Amino acid sequence: MKLGCGCSPNGEKLTDIINITKENIKYLPGIKLGHNVVADPDLEHAVEDANMLVFVTPHQFIEGICKRLVGKIKGDVEAINNCMIKGMEVKKGGPCMISSLINKQLGVNYCVLMGANIGDEIAMEKFSEATIGYREDKEVAQRWVQIFGTPYFRVSAVRDIEGVELCGTLKNVVAIAAGFVDGLEMGNNAKAAIMRIGLNEMKAFSKLMFPSVCDNTFLEGCGIADLITTCLGGRNTKVADSFARSGGKRSFHELETELLQGQKLQGVKTTGEVYEVLCQRGWQQSFPLFRTVHVICTGHLPPSSITQQRLDEN
Ligand code: 13P
Repeated sequence: MKLGCGCSPNGEKLTDIINITKENIKYLPGIKLGHNVVADPDLEHAVEDANMLVFVTPHQFIEGICKRLVGKIKGDVEAINNCMIKGMEVKKGGPCMISSLINKQLGVNYCVLMGANIGDEIAMEKFSEATIGYREDKEVAQRWVQIFGTPYFRVSAVRDIEGVELCGTLKNVVAIAAGFVDGLEMGNNAKAAIMRIGLNEMKAFSKLMFPSVCDNTFLEGCGIADLITTCLGGRNTKVADSFARSGGKRSFHELETELLQGQKLQGVKTTGEVYEVLCQRGWQQSFPLFRTVHVICTGHLPPSSITQQRLDEN
């Protein structure tokens, strides 16, 4: 298994350190990676003979990565957009999910994997579950289930690729709202209310975007479970908590740099992407939580407005 990555803490190449110690000292210190993991700083070389590709990068980098891969991968490759890529690209012609973007640029057979998957816990082999979303090809989805599934990582497949991907994407907006509530010390009742309202907006938004999205998907690991874990222990909630404690005076960018040791936050970017879709389609009034989170993130309202707006208009 080859890992494409090129970060370098303290001047040393992270890929060299991983290959020698079998440990990613920057992002997963103390966890031994499998003996068959090879880190390759050369993306084109890493994918050369691959027949299955797993994309696991913050969604802001995916378009550039795909451009570099055009013409470099085998014709019959299968790909999966793994649970770290939770976002969308909004173009003039409308929104594009990350897996569609990968498919459009590379023409590969793709699925998505999303779930309540805080990385450190999975690395420590604590129990969690995930959902694979597929379009038509159940056999391909089953291959991914077999590859990822272990007794402590339970994977199931559902035929609702857009629903699964939108769950993972939109819950990051709700997680930002939950972080505001934490930072303002508003209590568990308020946080639960935000999560409930957020789940409703996730469902309504997904079904408006893709009428084929199934209600049941929101009860899978990719839905309610991911929403809960992210709002309890995710990075979006953590950074939004600090943002609220600063009264909105410190920027998300500054807090991300301070709190995440080089990792990238997805939720704030997604909040802007979702807001763009609301504006493009005239849906602002139907999504008061999504709208308010964006307005707070951009500094036009204080974090305390999170529960001062009418959030029950749906
Ligand atoms: P964060 O990016 O907020 O840490 O999200 C965690 C997550 O997606 C868990 O599934």
